[in-house]
Amino acid sequence: MIMKHKHSGTKTFLRFSAILSIAAILFISAGCKLIENLHPELVQRGEEFPGSKECSKCHIDIYNEWVESSHSNSYTNEAFKVSTNNYEFKFCLGCHVPETIFKSQSGDSTDKAGVGLPTLNDEEIAARSYKLADGVDCQGCHLTTDCTLAGPHSGVSPHPTEKREELYRTSALCGICHRDTMEEYLAYTEGGGEATCQECHMPAVNRKLIQNEPWQKLHARKEGKAHTFSRLSAIKKKRDFIELEFSEIDNGNYQITGNVEITNTNVSHSIPTGKYGYREILLLINLKDNLGAIIKSKQESMFMELNTQLNPGEKRIVNFIFDLKGKNSVLKWLEASLFRTNFDRADRTEFASVKMELDQSMKD
Ligand code: HEC
Ligand code: HEC
Ligand code: HEC
Ligand code: HEC
Ligand code: HEC
Repeated sequence: MIMKHKHSGTKTFLRFSAILSIAAILFISAGCKLIENLHPELVQRGEEFPGSKECSKCHIDIYNEWVESSHSNSYTNEAFKVSTNNYEFKFCLGCHVPETIFKSQSGDSTDKAGVGLPTLNDEEIAARSYKLADGVDCQGCHLTTDCTLAGPHSGVSPHPTEKREELYRTSALCGICHRDTMEEYLAYTEGGGEATCQECHMPAVNRKLIQNEPWQKLHARKEGKAHTFSRLSAIKKKRDFIELEFSEIDNGNYQITGNVEITNTNVSHSIPTGKYGYREILLLINLKDNLGAIIKSKQESMFMELNTQLNPGEKRIVNFIFDLKGKNSVLKWLEASLFRTNFDRADRTEFASVKMELDQSMKD
């Protein structure tokens, strides 16, 4: 009887001190207050961070969008691998595998801009050395140096969260890494422009932040943003991003001449934009006959490298001369379209087009 009692007392004591020391180890190793949370593992920093897949247990929709975005491939994609000489150039890693935007190479950052903005343009973000395949991951944009998951809302959650609405709803967050685009964008806002990166590249959604059962039943819908981060989500909004127009069309002497006027009316940065990778905008002008066959065509490309990008508000006039000697088709249409394309032209995203019917007198 006495023996038994003593024994279980020791056991309880041992168990208790084991828990205490695990808690102490967690506390020291991560430097964060972890004990009062249901899921302390979700906000651990460094190698202890469980990875973005873990977030998908509750934030199912957001995870699925992110995993399809190029942010999730920013380390593994072939172009990055090749251009860093198989990951040898360490200074390239900060933006492609960030530990968190709240930490620069010289350490945890303080709130410089008053919106919780850390390092910005003066310093490189600290790169991580674990879970590299996740690229620009959930912790990269959300895990603060105080071990909270920051976002635009407040709410009840099984991990510590922190409301930082201003940071998450403004372009400054994206500008931490998209520095060249941000410079173009600042010229746009100085001219009175107001759209944020999020508005065009993260479509607005009204939904619950989590989708797992049964917990989602306890949560209300909120105004949020899909994590698609792509040019396609911008283009799908079908705003008049780019204006294409034919002008001074002239048909005479066995030729058709004229202009295509391209105006960047509504994109908040240049087209194309960005500093790295292959970025080409292609203008295609086609002359078609009454059966839809292409009789003549002309291409014109825009590149950052050649400084031929089209800045916000800028207009470019491209002229064409289609020589029609020896052709006797019934000319019917002039068409122009603008694409974002890649090196082998396999990927073509059209974001503006214009069509003009030629009158019968324009036959040769
Ligand atoms: C066990 C479920 C669960 C897991 C796993 C989880 N979360 Fe959450 N998270 C929640 C709940 C619940 C909320 C609050 C929802 C609400 O307020 O409607 C939340 C809120 C958030 C917020 C705050 C959003 C805002 O604006 O208020 C962020 C950011 C966040 N989670 C990020 C993450 C990240 C990153 C991970 C992975 C490391 C993760 N969460 C894993 C359940 C979870
Ligand atoms: C931690 C750095 C970082 C932050 C913060 C960041 N990005 Fe990115 N973003 C990248 C990198 C790196 C790539 C290139 C991915 C690749 O290798 O293809 C990229 C690519 C993109 C692309 C190009 C997709 C494509 O199809 O080529 C878009 C659009 C984009 N980001 C939008 C945003 C928006 C909007 C924000 C702010 C909400 C943002 N990014 C914040 C690093 C970042
Ligand atoms: C008014 C809408 C709008 C806003 C605001 C906007 N973009 Fe874009 N963005 C577009 C459109 C349309 C494209 C497609 C044209 C292109 O690919 O060049 C694009 C393309 C891009 C691309 C290139 C994607 C690719 O595949 O080449 C990146 C990167 C990008 N935007 C980042 C940003 C960042 C960062 C911000 C904020 C500083 C921002 N955008 C603000 C509309 C917008
Ligand atoms: C490139 C930066 C970036 C990455 C990567 C990122 N987020 Fe976000 N996240 C944002 C921004 C910006 C918002 C604010 C959107 C808004 O205005 O509602 C946001 C909002 C949220 C919210 C609040 C709901 C909402 O739509 O506002 C949750 C929850 C969240 N993110 C979870 C995640 C999870 C989980 C991952 C990884 C699968 C992730 N985020 C990856 C930038 C990012
Ligand atoms: C300041 C942040 C930052 C740093 C540092 C950085 N990148 Fe990037 N990288 C980006 C962003 C943002 C994009 C998305 C498009 C753009 O702006 O060019 C990108 C895109 C790319 C792409 C295009 C991937 C694709 O899908 O086509 C390549 C390749 C690339 N970077 C290589 C590099 C190399 C090589 C270095 C080092 C010399 C480097 N990056 C350093 C932010 C960065």
